[in-house]
Amino acid sequence: MTKQNISSRIVLPGRNDPCWCGSGRKYKVCHAQIDERVEQMRALGHEVPRRDMLKTPEQIEKIKKSCAVNMAVLDEVTAHIREGMTTAEIDRIVRETTKRLGGIPAPLGYEGYPYSVCTSVNDQVCHGFPSEKVVLESGDIVNVDCSTIVDGYFSDSSRMFCIGEVSAEKKKLVEVTRECVQRGLEQVRPWGFMGDMGQAVNDHARANGYSVVREIGGHGVGLEFHEDPWVSYVTKRGTEMLLVPGMIFTIEPMVNMGAPDVCYLEDNDWEVYTEDGSPSAQWEIMVLVTQNGHEVLCW
Ligand code: MF3
Ligand code: CO
Repeated sequence: MTKQNISSRIVLPGRNDPCWCGSGRKYKVCHAQIDERVEQMRALGHEVPRRDMLKTPEQIEKIKKSCAVNMAVLDEVTAHIREGMTTAEIDRIVRETTKRLGGIPAPLGYEGYPYSVCTSVNDQVCHGFPSEKVVLESGDIVNVDCSTIVDGYFSDSSRMFCIGEVSAEKKKLVEVTRECVQRGLEQVRPWGFMGDMGQAVNDHARANGYSVVREIGGHGVGLEFHEDPWVSYVTKRGTEMLLVPGMIFTIEPMVNMGAPDVCYLEDNDWEVYTEDGSPSAQWEIMVLVTQNGHEVLCW
């Protein structure tokens, strides 16, 4: 998502009020310690999350239900995607499976997006429109990006698929991009920084001769489709937002085989391509910052 699309919510408890996490305990004996540590870090000049970016245990449970549907939808795509299929067919699978499992495809109608899923092929970076005209051919690499609403809670993840006989070069791009997500994930821990994750992603991409898209990144997610913080993968260790238990965000770098520059298709202002026509890959997961590390919620 681009930075300006992010929205926000605010909740402010008092010290003797029940904790905002829903534990039933007084705030001062529950999350107050975490909040105090956050305030200390703010005083040191660090960017810190607002309290409403920390999900409560109840919210996390609901978000996990949404994630379960999102992953089941991607599993259905995984089972059926094949050479000769159109990307419109993937859209149908996603729409019908999501509905059957009690969810709503989050992309459909989101800021005017006209489909249930994004299908981005080869040099398409993201937000590819499913189409009856796009037939998957041997040698293609395609990202299928699914997002689901269940009971008002949002989930978001994407996977890459190699169709038929894919060149070793493109296969490597797909594999290294998956490794980038893994390297980033390993950096996610409370009281670390978003930039620890960002730099790990970027370092691994660059070590393999690739570049990471700068303009489009990840986001907080759960209560809405796209929440703060905006998540970049071209940042430095020790910088960007402090990671605090209860934060949920996506790791979804777009990695280009060539230059990092991208352009929007003029026809619809949605579909993004690499400017130099080089292939691009992306995997997306949702991660929760826990008390002692992280938990992957959706992949
Ligand atoms: N799923 C994309 C993401 O990872 C967002 C797509 S916006 C849509 O953030 F409208 F195209 F769905
Ligand atoms: Co996302």
